[in-house]
Amino acid sequence: MEILVQPNPETASALAAAAIAKAIYEKPTTVLGLATGSTPLALYRELIRLHRDEGLDFSKVRTFNLDEYLGLSPDHPASYSHFMRVNFFAHVNLNPQRTHIPSGLVSQETIPAHCEHYEEEIAQAGGIDIQILGIGSDGHIGFNEPSSSLTSRTRIKTLTERTRLDNSAHFVNPDDVPHHVITMGIGTIMEARKIFLLAFGENKATAVAGAAEGPITASLPASILQMHRHAHFYIDPLAASKLTRLAYYEWVLAHKPAWQRDDIAAR
Ligand code: PGA
Repeated sequence: MEILVQPNPETASALAAAAIAKAIYEKPTTVLGLATGSTPLALYRELIRLHRDEGLDFSKVRTFNLDEYLGLSPDHPASYSHFMRVNFFAHVNLNPQRTHIPSGLVSQETIPAHCEHYEEEIAQAGGIDIQILGIGSDGHIGFNEPSSSLTSRTRIKTLTERTRLDNSAHFVNPDDVPHHVITMGIGTIMEARKIFLLAFGENKATAVAGAAEGPITASLPASILQMHRHAHFYIDPLAASKLTRLAYYEWVLAHKPAWQRDDIAAR
């Protein structure tokens, strides 16, 4: 794992964006796994800037979002479909037909088929090259709450009350937060070739420490990332504050050879 502690969320997001841009310059058909929530907002802002100011071309890129609330239409302001349009898709040259988000409106009987189809679409696209992740304060990735199978696939999940509360600010009434979601599974996420986890703020410090340094356990789903060969954590000092090997991570970063650095654009 690579733990990249940066001075603030903006610099951490810019570093992740530079790595994504480098991947797209090298492979214009890059398949991105996308996340929602407050965490990736600065990353999307920087990718939009790279598109606008530096011609980063998304026309051949394909995207797959992690999850969606069940029961919300794509036009609902708290839906992840709406979030992606407003915060990213509307500002870059992604082909809408190459963007994929689980449907929040799928009927109960067709949920398994919908989830299976989502997995097939990912496979047909050649798999995800870079999966962007946030982390829940309870250690969830996607909406894989604690106790999720570490080999799970795309499916329906029930949110914890803590996650519903964490996400309630996006809803008019906290009771409006859906109880159910469709989310990529942990097994699905683990098949991505690279994983970029972003985490900012003190509220994430316990989850980040557990993910990077704790035992691998379904009680903290992000801890499975210790089994991934290319997991990179882009975090700020507050999110890093409970890591015990911080000095080592900082030393590694300070001595990273130029050929391995993503902020030196390979164009
Ligand atoms: P947040 O959510 O970015 O809104 O903190 C992260 C997550 O739940 O994965």
